[in-house]
Amino acid sequence: MRKHEYLLMQDISKSYDGTQALRGVTFSADLGEVHAIVGENGAGKSTLIKILSGAVRYDAGQILIDGKPVSLDSPLHAHQAGIRAVYQEFSLIPHLTVTENILLGRMPHGKLRGWVDWTAAHRRAQDILDGLGFTGIDVRTPVSQLSVSHQQMVEIAKAVAERPRILILDEPSAVLSQEELKRLFALVQQLKSASTLILYISHRLNEVFEIADRITVLKDGEIVGTVRPQDTDEGRLIKMMVGRTLGEFYPKREAKVGGEVLAVQGLSREGAFADVSFSLARGEILGMFGLVGSGRTQVARSIYGAEPPDAGEIRLEGKTIKIRSPRDALQLGIALLTEDRKRDGLVLSCSIRDNISLATLPEVTRWGFLNMHQVDARVQRQVQELTIRPPQIQRLVRQLSGGNQQKVVLAKWLLTHAKVLILDEPTRGVDIATKVDIYHIMSDLADQGVGILLISSELPEILGMSDRVLVMREGRLVGEFTRAQASEEKLLACAAGLLQ
Ligand SMILES: Nc1ncnc2c1ncn2[C@@H]1O[C@H](COP(=O)(O)OP(=O)(O)OP(=O)(O)O)[C@@H](O)[C@H]1O
Ligand SMILES: [Mg+2]
Repeated sequence: MRKHEYLLMQDISKSYDGTQALRGVTFSADLGEVHAIVGENGAGKSTLIKILSGAVRYDAGQILIDGKPVSLDSPLHAHQAGIRAVYQEFSLIPHLTVTENILLGRMPHGKLRGWVDWTAAHRRAQDILDGLGFTGIDVRTPVSQLSVSHQQMVEIAKAVAERPRILILDEPSAVLSQEELKRLFALVQQLKSASTLILYISHRLNEVFEIADRITVLKDGEIVGTVRPQDTDEGRLIKMMVGRTLGEFYPKREAKVGGEVLAVQGLSREGAFADVSFSLARGEILGMFGLVGSGRTQVARSIYGAEPPDAGEIRLEGKTIKIRSPRDALQLGIALLTEDRKRDGLVLSCSIRDNISLATLPEVTRWGFLNMHQVDARVQRQVQELTIRPPQIQRLVRQLSGGNQQKVVLAKWLLTHAKVLILDEPTRGVDIATKVDIYHIMSDLADQGVGILLISSELPEILGMSDRVLVMREGRLVGEFTRAQASEEKLLACAAGLLQ
């Protein structure tokens, strides 16, 4: 055996103007290992792996690969060193096809120089996806038209296609369905037995326990420790991450469910979903479970006016309404937190303040003037309640860690005072302590009479929070369970079409 581990990052420090993201971090990992990195939002996980992939420069320290110092000062150098990363914020080029994204820079040429052999290119890209078990993706589609989970799979395919020695996966599972996750795990195992080092970042501790050989915990830019799953448990790991134990995970709630606030009847949209009918009551948290691609997001987007339905009726507080655009929806009191924060949730180049206040501006405008004091005070309150870090509201959202960006989206919608709040994967990428905060906020909102439609692929979240659960499959509602009836097995079976 070699005396040293394959990867050694030694005394790495990094600060972004004013924010010390990493301080003297020493981290090592070996080939043939799945090494998980966990920690709260903003702990420095993405920064650490971006340094390794050459995307971010570090201020101090050195990196050794196979015992030899390397300079990874650009993504190209990192590529040459066999390092590939799948980032939390996707890096695909939206208007290019799946094929072009996967084969970027390696497109097969035809007989003439400069001509791309498209047939061969599409075939190669398809082969790569098939080989990974990632089915259902048309390689000729522009990436911008894919669902987030398919985009994620294309990202992974692109990284894996080049047979890296070190593969970095930053929150890869957040947008994947159970089924897709299984495929990803199989792939990770396969790469591991082929002596790849896999660095795996996730906020889902059950996943980490399932696939990691070792787990390193980061907190406030420092390493807290490295443990083996068999030597610890979730409780102890959370304590290492958060510095304290967490109380009640899901708030105990006496649901005070009132009259109907929203109802949809026979809602259909060609190619997306058909004949969807349900009602949501004031103060109710209605879960909507289903496999990724089952049409849940499209139903939400239809109600919200982003993709108007072809047929069917929407009622708000008993009155039939016509929603032609998100603006209509917002004015009527229907808000949607989207699963794809980069596409329609956030303006990355704007500040926390501007992003949060975007949806609520009319309320704080009098005679066309903005009351900036009022705006700031409201934004500040949200920043505190959701522990958005760093808490400076003039910060650009681009500079926040992934989980903190998600909190900004949530804050924005919480301020709209909606009657109906549709939350599509609200805790995606959010750390465990903040998740608990979000659950309590949801519970408070419901207590105040807001009707909440909770779309989530995380079963524990659906089961822990919902008063009632709907299940969608292939564009149709196929099941409804009360809180007492619902169980993990039943929901999964129903979503997979195995239950009548
Ligand atoms: N481009 C940037 N400019 C300024 N500050 C940044 C930038 N990128 C990250 N930071 C800051 O560095 C710290 C570490 O961020 P990082 O993205 O590494 O966290 P993380 O552990 O990946 O969190 P998450 O779980 O939310 O993804 C945070 O305080 C973040 O705000
Ligand atoms: Mg991150």
